[in-house]
Amino acid sequence: MIHQSNKSGPCTAVVGLQWGDEGKGKIVDLIAPGFDAVVRYNGGANAGHSIVVNGERYALHLVPSGILYPGKLAVVANGVVVDPDQLLKEIDGLGERGVDTSGLRLSDRAHVVLPYHKIEDQVRELALSKRRDAGGGVGQIGTTKRGIGPCYADKVLRALAVRVGDLRRPDILRERVEISCEQRNALFGALGVDHEPFDAARIIDAALAAGERLEPLITDTVYLLNDLIDAGSSLLFEGANATLLDVDHGTYPYVTSSNSSALGIGAGTGVPASKIGRVVGVMKAYSTRVGSGPFPTELLDDTGDRIRERGREYGTTTGRPRRIGWLDLVAVRYSAMINGITGLAITLLDVLAGFDELQVCIEYEIDGKRTGRFLPDSADLERATPIYTALPGFLDQIDAATESNDLPDEAKRYVSLIQDHVGVPVELVSVGPDRSQTLAGSPV
Ligand code: IMP
Repeated sequence: MIHQSNKSGPCTAVVGLQWGDEGKGKIVDLIAPGFDAVVRYNGGANAGHSIVVNGERYALHLVPSGILYPGKLAVVANGVVVDPDQLLKEIDGLGERGVDTSGLRLSDRAHVVLPYHKIEDQVRELALSKRRDAGGGVGQIGTTKRGIGPCYADKVLRALAVRVGDLRRPDILRERVEISCEQRNALFGALGVDHEPFDAARIIDAALAAGERLEPLITDTVYLLNDLIDAGSSLLFEGANATLLDVDHGTYPYVTSSNSSALGIGAGTGVPASKIGRVVGVMKAYSTRVGSGPFPTELLDDTGDRIRERGREYGTTTGRPRRIGWLDLVAVRYSAMINGITGLAITLLDVLAGFDELQVCIEYEIDGKRTGRFLPDSADLERATPIYTALPGFLDQIDAATESNDLPDEAKRYVSLIQDHVGVPVELVSVGPDRSQTLAGSPV
């Protein structure tokens, strides 16, 4: 079939504009009712989306957030790396809480995260940190240790990779896992890594058992998604991780291993870019980052600690305290450009209540010159000094606001500054974790 036209309304993408944890899960969950399917296109169990529905918190890592709406398709597309044990754990957990997971679909071309990927992730990180401690090297990336990098590396190396479709082809699976274990055992031995050799037979048996349980979900999601578009359905693409962690466009090498900006949608789903009409960029009202890497506006003082506690800024996936900083509009503008965003969703504005003054970075200074351009190369970004503009803070709590015009003038000014600098309309402002704590549009 030739997929020529998009008969539906615009397909929409929701992507993070900073270093992750912007609250994409909540925004996806809010706008999901208008779509027929919610699609994950990149990353794996490194992502953590927390959503609060009727006071109940759900933490999802692999299952698209749209699953919380009965009758909707929730598609894990080919660009995702899938840890079968984690996926089954999430399916079982949702089932126990009465959530219907029958809309879940899994691409036969998604790559499978196996136990040796997770161990290799840990071993490589440990080796990097030891080298750093001994006085050399880039230091660890600070990964989530979910095996993401090694799994994507196998995908590109080809001969070692296992795809979801291979879970139902025991001969291919066996061969791939055996080669992987042989090579990794030899490599770990040569590197002097103190680790029990990988037992290929055990890994194969577990993968086949998981494959049997996942079998009903496995399909060719490229045709599924394009057929849906041709039939007039509209799709919602849910970005995992975030733009500044994109392997090509983020702060390399302190990034994740996939195209986590909206640019990853085409390759990660088989749906061409021309079918995506709307891109919502989600940004926190301040900045956070987990793991290593440059962070020009980082706050290593009491203000940072206060924001961390108020915003409960601890990783959904790893529990690590997040690094905190003032809002960096140089970074956000760059991300807005890369993603071609058509609207903004500003989250966690309530966390900034109670500060006398708020700082927003609008330019950098590097080598004695001012620039409004982001510096995605980590070595350059490390040398950038933020230039701030100060705004009066808003002292009253705003979590009970029900429309954007309820916000105090200082909060309205903060939102307007963001909108003016980024140059796209603010569609949503979030003032608390619950679905109800969301204000439509920019204040006037
Ligand atoms: P990896 O994706 O586990 O390889 O980790 C690479 C880098 O991306 C680390 O700094 C992680 O902390 C970061 N990272 C990956 N996924 C997320 C996310 O969903 N939110 C925030 N940081 C993330």
